[in-house]
Amino acid sequence: MKKILLAPSLLSADFSDLAGAVKKIENNGGSIVHIDVMDGAFVPQITYGQPVIKSIRKLTDLPFDVHLMVEKPELMVDSFAESGSDWITFHYESTVHIDRLINKIHSLGKKCGISIVPSTPVSVLSEILPQVDLVLVMSVNPGFGGQSLIPYCLEKVKELEKIRSEKDLNFMISIDGGVNEKNISNVASSGVDIIVSGSAFFNDKLKWEL
Ligand code: DX5
Ligand code: ZN
Repeated sequence: MKKILLAPSLLSADFSDLAGAVKKIENNGGSIVHIDVMDGAFVPQITYGQPVIKSIRKLTDLPFDVHLMVEKPELMVDSFAESGSDWITFHYESTVHIDRLINKIHSLGKKCGISIVPSTPVSVLSEILPQVDLVLVMSVNPGFGGQSLIPYCLEKVKELEKIRSEKDLNFMISIDGGVNEKNISNVASSGVDIIVSGSAFFNDKLKWEL
């Protein structure tokens, strides 16, 4: 079976001890640090941004996948690249000129991910799948940690897997939201390459054995 990477989400960490959270990710099987940036407009909460990413960048060599849940991500990618993001993932639903933004992120020397909320079908990505490095399938409605996984989102992972192999494409597939110790084996068999976990990881529910 292929190796699936774990990307713990800092959203469920204790923000008064981000250094401890990064250590915990390093010591418990994390391969990528998933950083949820929320702007209070695309989603209701506000989390953290470029200055915080810059501070924690010096704590680890693990790659940072910065998940932008913001409106107008095109206004922010330069500064997120500069702050130490390795992957910049933005939402299909958050902007119009997606092709331009993918090119911009690549021109900054960063990997580019595209994310879709549960109600967005995979079919809207058909033109851009050859260009992206990652598709982040949201398996909850974005904005909060600790929600339940919406089962039909796993079908979208399977659909992406099928398209990838039929068209011989290279993007990675990640799932984000509601993964826990009960559903992880089912999630793992859907074809994902990266599993994001916030609450289950930080509550020590997820034993990473994949
Ligand atoms: C939700 C975020 C997720 C969140 C996942 O909007 O994008 O990354 O942290 O948290 P859990 O694993 O608790 O659903
Ligand atoms: Zn996320």
